[in-house]
Amino acid sequence: MPLVPSYIKNLANYVPGKPIEEIQRELGLSKIIKLASNENSLGPSPRALAAMRLAMDKIHRYPDASGYMLRKKLADKYNLKIENVVLGAGSEGIMSSIMRTFLLSDDEIISAENSFIGFRVLANASGKYVHWVPMKNYRYDLESMAKKINDYTKLIYIANPDNPMGTYIKRDEFDAFYAHVPERVLIILDEAYFEYARFNIDYPDSMTYRYDNVITLRTFSKAYGLAGARIGYGFAHDELIFNLMKVKVTFEPSFLGQVAGFAALDDAPFLNETIELNKIGMEYLTSELSNLNVQYVTSVANFITTVWDSNERAAKLTQDLLEKGIIVRHLAAFGWPNCIRISVGLIEENVKYIESLKQVL
Ligand SMILES: Cc1ncc(COP(=O)(O)O)c(C=O)c1O
Repeated sequence: MPLVPSYIKNLANYVPGKPIEEIQRELGLSKIIKLASNENSLGPSPRALAAMRLAMDKIHRYPDASGYMLRKKLADKYNLKIENVVLGAGSEGIMSSIMRTFLLSDDEIISAENSFIGFRVLANASGKYVHWVPMKNYRYDLESMAKKINDYTKLIYIANPDNPMGTYIKRDEFDAFYAHVPERVLIILDEAYFEYARFNIDYPDSMTYRYDNVITLRTFSKAYGLAGARIGYGFAHDELIFNLMKVKVTFEPSFLGQVAGFAALDDAPFLNETIELNKIGMEYLTSELSNLNVQYVTSVANFITTVWDSNERAAKLTQDLLEKGIIVRHLAAFGWPNCIRISVGLIEENVKYIESLKQVL
C-alpha cells in the first residue's frame, strides 16, 4: 500500500511478554510468577497508590499539560530549574518526543545493536539512518560508536545500565567517549535502572555533571513500581526542554501518572525496601546460577540475563519454565537468541524459579 512508508512496512511488530491471565488460561495454571518485564515484584509504591485513589474522582478533568507540580518537585530534588525538567508517558514517551523534536531528514542516529528494544522501534520508525554498533562482551562498545560519528550524526542513545544485559558504562569510559562527541550531537542517557545501579561507585550518575547536549531520562516504572501508570521524566538544558514541551503530546503524561509520580518521590521506605530486596535477590540468583554452572551476565539492574548454548535450548527452557508457571523472557526478538532474561522477584519467587530451573535442566 503506497500510503505506508517502506521503513514502517519493514518494522517488525513488537511482541510483548504475554499477560499473566492469558498464560493462566492457556495452561490451566492457578499461580503464575512473572519474571519477564523488569517490573517491581513488590507492587506499586503504596504512597503512589494512595494518592491515585484519592485523585480518582478528578479524572474527568484534563491533566496539567505543563506537569507543574511534579516538574517542580523534581527540579527542587535535583537543585535545578523547572525549565530543565520534562515529563512523559514513561521515559519511552519522552524518547518519542525527542525523535520528533530534534531530527531533520538527513540526520543519523548511533546506538548499540540489540540494546533497549523500545528505542530500536522508535529509531527504526523514524525513518532515519541508524548505525547499530555491535556490543562487545555484552557491553556498549563506546570506542566503536565514537568512530561512527560523522557530519550527519544528530542523536546518540545510550542505555546505562543496558537492558537486556544489565551491564553499565563507567564514568571514565563515558568521559572518554564524550570527548569525541561534537556539541551539535544530542546524547540520550537512559537511566531507567538508575536507582539500582547508582551504588556502583564508578557508575556515572549523569546528574552530577550536566552537559548542554545530554538528556537524562529516568522513570517511575521500575524502582517505584509504576510501570502501568506510564510516568517518566527527563533533565536537560532549558532550550532543549522548551522545545520538547512544544512537541510532546499535549496532555501527556496522564493525570494519575503525574499524581503517582509526585507521591512516589516521598516514598523512601518503599524505595529502600525495593533496593534491598533486589540486592538480596540478585545475590541469591547469581550464587544459585553459579552453582548450577549456568552462564550469566553480571547485572547492576533488577534483572539478570542467562546465556545458553543455542536458540533452541533457550526457547525450550523458556517453554519448560512457562509450563511450571514461571514467565521469563527469551531474548530472541531482542537479537540475543541464546539468552534468557529473568527479573529479580520476591524471595519466594526467586526460590521457585531456581527450583523449577533445576527440574527442567
Ligand atoms: C533501558 C530502558 N529504558 C526505558 C524503558 C522504558 O521505561 P518506561 O516505562 O519509563 O517507558 C525500559 C523499560 O523496560 C528500559 O529497559
